Amino acid sequence: MQVSNRVAGLTPSLTLGISAKAKQMKKEGKDVVDFSAGEPDFSTPEPVQKAAIKAIEENYTRYTPVAGSAELIWAISKKFKEENNLDYSPSQIVVANGAKQIIFNALQVVCNPGDEVILPMPYWVSYPEQIRLAGATPVYVYLDFEKGLKIDEEELKRAIHPGKTKAIIINTPHNPTGGVLDRRELEKIARVVEDSSILVISDEIYENFVYEVSHTSFASLGENIYNKTLTVNGVSKTYSMTGWRIGYAGGPEQIIQAMIKLQSHSTSCASSISQKAAIAALNLQKAEVKDRIKEFSYRRKLIKDGLKKIKGVRVNKLQGAFYVFPDFTYFLGTFTGERKIKNSLDLADYLLEEAGVALVPGSAFGMEGYLRMSYALPVEDIKKGLDRMKQALDKLRG
Ligand SMILES: Cc1ncc(COP(=O)(O)O)c(C=O)c1O
Repeated sequence: MQVSNRVAGLTPSLTLGISAKAKQMKKEGKDVVDFSAGEPDFSTPEPVQKAAIKAIEENYTRYTPVAGSAELIWAISKKFKEENNLDYSPSQIVVANGAKQIIFNALQVVCNPGDEVILPMPYWVSYPEQIRLAGATPVYVYLDFEKGLKIDEEELKRAIHPGKTKAIIINTPHNPTGGVLDRRELEKIARVVEDSSILVISDEIYENFVYEVSHTSFASLGENIYNKTLTVNGVSKTYSMTGWRIGYAGGPEQIIQAMIKLQSHSTSCASSISQKAAIAALNLQKAEVKDRIKEFSYRRKLIKDGLKKIKGVRVNKLQGAFYVFPDFTYFLGTFTGERKIKNSLDLADYLLEEAGVALVPGSAFGMEGYLRMSYALPVEDIKKGLDRMKQALDKLRG
C-alpha cells in the first residue's frame, strides 16, 4: 500500500521531532533541558479545570454546533471587542481544534491548485505544509528580525501575482523569532494589500506575550483591512491550554461560513468539554495572565544575557512570544572529533547528544544557521541549559 503523493511529500514537523527525541531521552533517565517546547510550562488555571469537570458532571458531552457553542461564540465576540477593538457578529466567528486547524481550514477555503500564498520567512513550521496541502505554493518574503521584525514593502509588492496570490499569512508576536510587527510595519503591509483581493490571515496566538511593546491586531487598522482579514487566535498559549485544542477566528462572513461548511465534514465541532473550559478561560481576570507574562519577561532577559556570554552566538531583538532565534552560523563548518557540523540540524543533534539540551534547527523555519530556543521553562533549567550549551559549543574546533 502507498500513501498519497500529497502526504508523502510532507516534511514531518522538525519541532515535534526534536521534542519527541528529547522526551525519549528523558524517559531513559537522561537529564535533558528541553528548549524545544512550544508551550508554556504552567498548568491550566484552576477555574478552567473546574469548568471542564463541571461540564462532564453535567453531561455536557454531546456535539455542539459546528461553529462552536453559542455561549463560547459570544465570549469570543466580547473578547475581540474588548481586547482587540474588533466587532465580529456570531456569524463571523468559528471555533476549531486549535489555531492550527483554523489556519488549515482557511487555506483550504481560499486556495485552488496553482494558487500562491505569501509567507514571511522565517515562518512557523506548519504554514508551508498547510499551504501545499491546499494545493497552493508558498511565496516567501524575507522578514528582517535581528533588530525587530521588518518587512520590505517593495519585496512584498513583487511577491503579489494578481489572480494567483490568494492569501498572506502574518504572525505577530512571531514564532520562531520572538519579534513583534509594530503598527508601522503592519501599516506597510496594509498599504500593499488594501487594493487587492488577498485574504490576510493574521495569526495572533501569542498576542499576550509582549514585552515593552504592545500588540496591534491587523484587522483593527481600518475598515477596508478589517474586511479582508481573518483574525486567528486561541486559548493554547495565553491560558496554558495547548492540549485542550481550542482555536478560533473572526473574519469576513463568507470565509467563516465556508470554513464551517468544510469543518462540518471533517472534525464537526471542537470538544464540548474544552469549549466550556475555553469560556472559563476567556472570563478569567487578566491579573493571573499578567503575572505569568512578567515571569516570561524575566526569563527572556535571563536567556538573552546568557546567550550573549557564549562566543560566536548572536542574539536577535526579543519583544514577544517565548522564543529566541539566535544566529549560530559561526559554528557551521566546525568539528567535533571527526564529525563536521554542516548545518543547524547537525548542531542541534550535537547539542542534544553532547550537552543534553534540545533546540530546534532553524532549517525547520526556513533559516539555515539559526536555532530556535523556547524560554517556556523554569529558571533553573534555563540556567543549567545555557551553561551546558556554552561548554559544548566551546569544545567545537574550527
Ligand atoms: C505561530 C503559531 N500559530 C498557531 C499555533 C497553533 O496553536 P494551537 O495550539 O491553537 O493549534 C502555534 C503553536 O505552536 C504557533 O506557534
